Parts: sequence; structure tokens; C-alpha cells
Amino acid sequence: MTKRLDGQVALITGGASGFGEATARLFVEEGARVLLADVQEERGARVAKELGDAALFQPTDVTQEDAIAAAVDLAVSELGGLDCMFANAGIVGSMGPIEETPIEEYDFTMAVNLRGVFLCMKHAARIMRPQGSGTILSCSSIAGLQGGLGPHAYATAKTALIGLTRNVAAELAPFGVRVNCIAPGNMATPMIAGLVTGDPDAVPAMENALAMGSPLPGRAGRAGDIADAALYLASDASSYVSGHTLVVDAGMTTGSGRELRMFEQRAPLAREAGQRGLPES
Ligand SMILES: NC(=O)c1ccc[n+]([C@@H]2O[C@H](COP(=O)([O-])OP(=O)(O)OC[C@H]3O[C@@H](n4cnc5c(N)ncnc54)[C@H](O)[C@@H]3O)[C@@H](O)[C@H]2O)c1
Repeated sequence: MTKRLDGQVALITGGASGFGEATARLFVEEGARVLLADVQEERGARVAKELGDAALFQPTDVTQEDAIAAAVDLAVSELGGLDCMFANAGIVGSMGPIEETPIEEYDFTMAVNLRGVFLCMKHAARIMRPQGSGTILSCSSIAGLQGGLGPHAYATAKTALIGLTRNVAAELAPFGVRVNCIAPGNMATPMIAGLVTGDPDAVPAMENALAMGSPLPGRAGRAGDIADAALYLASDASSYVSGHTLVVDAGMTTGSGRELRMFEQRAPLAREAGQRGLPES
């Protein structure tokens, strides 16, 4: 059977953990070769080793342009090209009230979560524009769609990169390069486990906790859900989709059953303000 990414090469930042790791595993299953780029050297090297000949790990800090440029060049020279760039690496970053946020923490959070994505897009475009094909994916968050769902610097970066994705999509569409974004809800990964429990390895416990508060009863968001979204956006199944933000949150940001309850009981047509009744003929 033909695999969905047969012969493709993907570079995944943040590939050592969470969404990036799950996406690397799925992409390899689907026939891709992947370059994992991450600051977590031991973990990244271990994941790449488990994936065998189809994967490489390159220590990469996404805030550094020369590091991103080198990772892109390595994908081309060692894996044979660059068909998909998944700019996924991110951190929770600076937390707390705005008046207490040190500007250095704001800058660092923005450097990883926004500048890093910009650099990934810049260096992916360098390869993809002349080759006339490719897909670029960024990783936003529901904190980029609604207020109050993440810390300030995080929400700022995640909102901005939706705009960046649209703009780069507009520029690169004429060259056959599609650029899309994924906006996950709260998912059980080392990032959220570390934030909530203090232990990044407490992913199963986090999954149980998230399942309880999920809009879909008993169903927590998992790293594999984002890998599936990335596979769709990287593959030909989405060949007419660009500039899009794919929200993967079980409907958390589109409304909950709680708001619908007052409308649940059948009643006559509500026709005018303060009145009920069928329209008069
Ligand atoms: N887990 C969630 O609920 C959630 C929700 C919305 C968005 N996100 C976003 O998804 C992305 C992946 O998060 P995750 O949940 O898989 O987290 P994770 O912590 O499991 O993985 C993130 C990876 O990024 C790497 N990283 C951090 N800083 C880096 C840098 N400067 N250079 C290179 N790599 C770096 C980390 O080492 C880690 O391996 C992030 O952008 C995050 O903001 C996560």
C-alpha cells in the first residue's frame, strides 16, 4: 500500500518530545525521512535512534538563525531534500501578572515561540520556493484564538504566528508551497504534565485529568491527535488547503454544552423579543 508521505523529507523542531516526537514517529510510519531538531540532546538522539535509518537528530536551538539554517542544510544534504517543515518547538515561557513580567522573560518566550517559527519559515522557503513544492506547518494554540487561555507572552506569540502563517501562505502559494497552522487545545504532553504536576513524565496522569474536563467525555487530547493533523496538512489529502489554522481542541473554543442547556427544552418558536408564539398568518 502506498504510504501517505512516501519519499518525503520532514524537519520537525521540538522533535524530541510531545507533538514533535509523535509526529516524527507517524511520519516515518508513513514513509518519510525526518530530521529532529531540538535542544534536548539526549532525548532527541534516543528518539532518532529508535526510528532507525529514517531519522536523524540535530541539536538545534530555534532562536538561533545559524542553527536553523544548518538543520535545513543537513536535511537537504543527508536526507535528500525538504518537503515539510514543522515549526513545532515551543515553551510555556514567562508566567504571572503583566505588571510583574520581566521583559527579559517576555523576550525569551517570544524568541522561542515566534522568532523560532519565523526562522523556520524563512529557511524552509529558501529550499521550497525554488523547488516549487513543500508544506510548512506552525504550531499555535487555543491561547492564540481566545483570551485567558495561556500566559501573556505565550498568547502573544501564538496569536502572532497565526498571522505570520497566513502572510507566508499568501507569499508562497504562487510557488506551490502550502503554509498552515495547527492550534491545539490542552493535550497530554510533557509540557502540560510538567506545568500542572511539576513532572514532565506524568503524561498518563495528565491524560486522566484532561479526560475528566474534556468536551468529549472521557477523551483527553493526546500528542497523536496533533501528529494526525500534521500528517493531513503535510500530505496530498490537504493539497487545496493553505493559510488555514486547524483547531484540534474537541470543540473547546467553539462552545460547550453548558451554554446550550437553557435552549434544550422544546418550546414554541421564540419570535420577537420577550414573546413566544408561532408567526401569525
Ligand atoms: N501540550 C499542549 O497542550 C499544547 C497546546 C497548545 C500548543 N502547544 C504547542 O505545541 C508545541 C509542542 O508542545 P508539546 O506539548 O509537544 O511540548 P513538549 O515540551 O513535550 O515539546 C516541546 C519540545 O520543544 C523543544 N524546545 C523548547 N525550546 C526549544 C528551542 N529553543 N529550540 C529547539 N527546541 C526547543 C523542547 O525541548 C521539547 O522537546 C509547542 O509549540 C507548544 O506551545 C502545546
